[in-house]
Amino acid sequence: MSNPVWIKHASQLVTLATEHKGPRTKEAMSKLSIIEDGSIWVENELIQAIGTTEELQRKYATRIDEAEIIDAFGKLVTPGLVDPHTHVAYGGSREREFEMRLEGATYMDIMNAGGGIHATSRMTREATEEDIFAQTKKRLDSFLAHGVTTIEGKSGYGLNVETEIKQLRVMQRLQTEHSIDIVPTFMGAHAVPAEFKGKEDEYVDLIVNDMLPRVAGEKLAKFNDVFCEVGVFTPEQSKRILEAGKALGLVPKIHADEIEPYGGAELAAEVGAISAEHLLKASDSGIAAMAKQGVIACLLPATALYLRENPARGREMIDAGVPVAISTDCNPGSSPTTSMPLVMNLACISMRLTPAESLCAATYNAACAIQMEDKVGSLEIGKQADIVLWNVPNYQQLQYLFGVNHVNSVWKKGVKVVG
Ligand code: NIG
Ligand code: FE
Repeated sequence: MSNPVWIKHASQLVTLATEHKGPRTKEAMSKLSIIEDGSIWVENELIQAIGTTEELQRKYATRIDEAEIIDAFGKLVTPGLVDPHTHVAYGGSREREFEMRLEGATYMDIMNAGGGIHATSRMTREATEEDIFAQTKKRLDSFLAHGVTTIEGKSGYGLNVETEIKQLRVMQRLQTEHSIDIVPTFMGAHAVPAEFKGKEDEYVDLIVNDMLPRVAGEKLAKFNDVFCEVGVFTPEQSKRILEAGKALGLVPKIHADEIEPYGGAELAAEVGAISAEHLLKASDSGIAAMAKQGVIACLLPATALYLRENPARGREMIDAGVPVAISTDCNPGSSPTTSMPLVMNLACISMRLTPAESLCAATYNAACAIQMEDKVGSLEIGKQADIVLWNVPNYQQLQYLFGVNHVNSVWKKGVKVVG
């Protein structure tokens, strides 16, 4: 058992604690619960106490000598960031497509010509499990260095039973061999593989009859995601896949209305998805339906920027009562980044979230989007000691000084992993 850690004198300790459970909406997204001259006592992987430095000084007066003391004077402390949408486990790289898009090709042009997701699928099929493990591990290290302590990770570059399982196994291994928590999502419905061109429904049959039962049977995923998009999976096919997953205990998520308006937001509300992702082209009625059902909008402003598209209507979604989370979408095509701080900056700049809303969207609401809010996403007694110390004095500066990594140190389950 390691020594207790006492972080004290934080100029702002942003806890995000509240009585209310579940995803936060409207004004609740701005209530950060800030303690000035804040202090946390960490022991046995968990947060044991939280309050002002004076309060904890009194509480632990007889045990101070045991603790490793971290002086956070002049610095900000927040929960570890949570990234609720990544495609982190893959093989290869696609920098040539970046150039092609700058030369005028669209994302879908490249995908329809056999590149895009198909290109990564080929490279992921060819790579050994060891290769994918090593490449993914590096990306997880980079997430940690940017203050991210929990991520979701999707399969979806296998597009056949064997390779989908290979990706999910890599994530399962990383969950035990890397300090980041990685919550797995099955996304066999990320694209229709080349060998099923013209036989799309047969690929849907394969997902429903073979892949989903195998993934659920081996407990390799918690969520089931579909790319519901013109030219990829129709709303009907998406619904079939999501309902089949639900029957096996997998919670639905949807890549919805990213490139074209396609009723994805509405479908998310209809099937009871925990979240709908992207939503660049979500309709007013789709947004209203999500607000009514409490579907979390997982918005990906780095992807919109990278594809040079207009961002999702984050401000309007919050005002309409949709709980909003944000994410990197870390993937080799539309958003090759591991920087949640950049995503927080972009959420403010491009979607007009306030700095407080952006922080809630990257912590507590993000944890809700992957059903991890009982363990992570806020600093509260009994939760995992996933903590970031930032080289700025307040959360507003974290959002204002953009494009810079302000991380000083990171603790995962009470163990210092960065800094
Ligand atoms: O979320 N839109 C679909 N899937 C990913 C991109 C995957 C890729 O291009 O490799 C996304 O943006
Ligand atoms: Fe994605």
